[in-house]
Amino acid sequence: MTDSATPTGSAPEGADPEALRQRALAALLTARERTELLTDSVDDHELTAQHSPLMSPLVWDLAHIGNQEELWLLRAVAGREAMRPEIDGLYDAFEHPRATRPSLPLLAPAEARTYAAEVRGRALDVLDGAALDGGGPLVRSGFAFGMIAQHEQQHDETMLITHQLRSGTAVLTAPVPPAATDAAGLPAEALVPGGPFTMGTSTEPWALDNERPAHVRDVPDFFIDTTPVTCGAYQAFIEDGGYTERRWWEPGGWEMVREHELTAPLFWRRDAGRWLRRRFGVTEEVPANEPVLHVSWYEADAYARWAGRRLPTEAEWEKAARHDPASGRSRRYPWGDEDPSPELANLGQRHLRPAPAGAYPQGQSPCGARQLLGDVWEWTSSDFLPHPGFSPFPYREYSEVFFGPDHKVLRGGSFAVDPVACRGTFRNWDLPVRRQIFSGFRTARDI
Ligand code: AVJ
Ligand code: FE
Repeated sequence: MTDSATPTGSAPEGADPEALRQRALAALLTARERTELLTDSVDDHELTAQHSPLMSPLVWDLAHIGNQEELWLLRAVAGREAMRPEIDGLYDAFEHPRATRPSLPLLAPAEARTYAAEVRGRALDVLDGAALDGGGPLVRSGFAFGMIAQHEQQHDETMLITHQLRSGTAVLTAPVPPAATDAAGLPAEALVPGGPFTMGTSTEPWALDNERPAHVRDVPDFFIDTTPVTCGAYQAFIEDGGYTERRWWEPGGWEMVREHELTAPLFWRRDAGRWLRRRFGVTEEVPANEPVLHVSWYEADAYARWAGRRLPTEAEWEKAARHDPASGRSRRYPWGDEDPSPELANLGQRHLRPAPAGAYPQGQSPCGARQLLGDVWEWTSSDFLPHPGFSPFPYREYSEVFFGPDHKVLRGGSFAVDPVACRGTFRNWDLPVRRQIFSGFRTARDI
């Protein structure tokens, strides 16, 4: 299934309703397994504690996951009554900012688990009986089920960020990701030829509202880095006085650097001439060949200016990731239309870090850029704006209320993103000061 500027795209691969039902079931089960790993690996005290004012207590995410599933799959899709109407307000992300959530009368860990499990039992019954080949837009192609699986996975990534922010010893472990095989011989940048390409999608069944619709964009030729910027390259910026020279920074970024006395990415610390970092409870030397992580948009933008380059626009990023010059079409993923697998990308929290720069040669895009999907979220220069023809679905608060100049777009997903919640069209956004997220970047330049 591809999107094409001329409407010759084949039928959605998931159009068979039984295949979509199985896909939805698998996605919901996978998400819940991960939620349980993230919430069962710490005790009740840690579940209810505030590990950072930037984050909710883990137990809030857990009940919020259940509450959203109840709202959409039980009430909106199946027309059921509210199970516990008194808790809706507690788990409405717009009613209470994250910093205030620990003082709310939240469900205790055992209650939150029981609530989420009860909702899930009923939701699976609804999925069993849903007519995925017809009905309204919420049920058709299993959209609401896919949306809820993605929502849970997004909160799992949020909970993994909370795990990274918590102090204390490690509770999560994972194998190291595969090394890059031919990284030494890789060109530093890839050429993306100018011309129109199809951005966004109208055919991907579980694409969220902000990825729609497919539309044509004309993007002049540009060069983009073959891999994300590494910790080693970023250290050169630091050592060249990057954080002490105002000329590299946007005014807001310079203000942030001064106010918080920033000298390096979040979680880095200088020790006897070496850079160390804390990663999920372990302190280790910063690996020079790994994509840099935990930088804000302001830091990414300053690095790019220092390097004589710039961040790619969102359209450039998507063209580098999806455009196939041979066919003129846009792919679902950099490597083609087939779903992600462990040989293609570092997704799904299989590893607790990005793979070294240049890894996943089979996952490269037609222009030769690697690691566009997975590893680190990549900041773009673009504000989060609607695609032409956007309409909010199924609720304004997913995307529409965030459109505007305050939020910058991130693309490609991180090692902490599940495949169900990532594709070549997927759009994430955040404030330019945010750096607790699994964010990195690559740079670009005009011809
Ligand atoms: C798309 C990651 C910015 O976590 O704020 C979760 C996703 N929306 N619940 C977020 C989301 C509602 C959202 N991001
Ligand atoms: Fe949410």
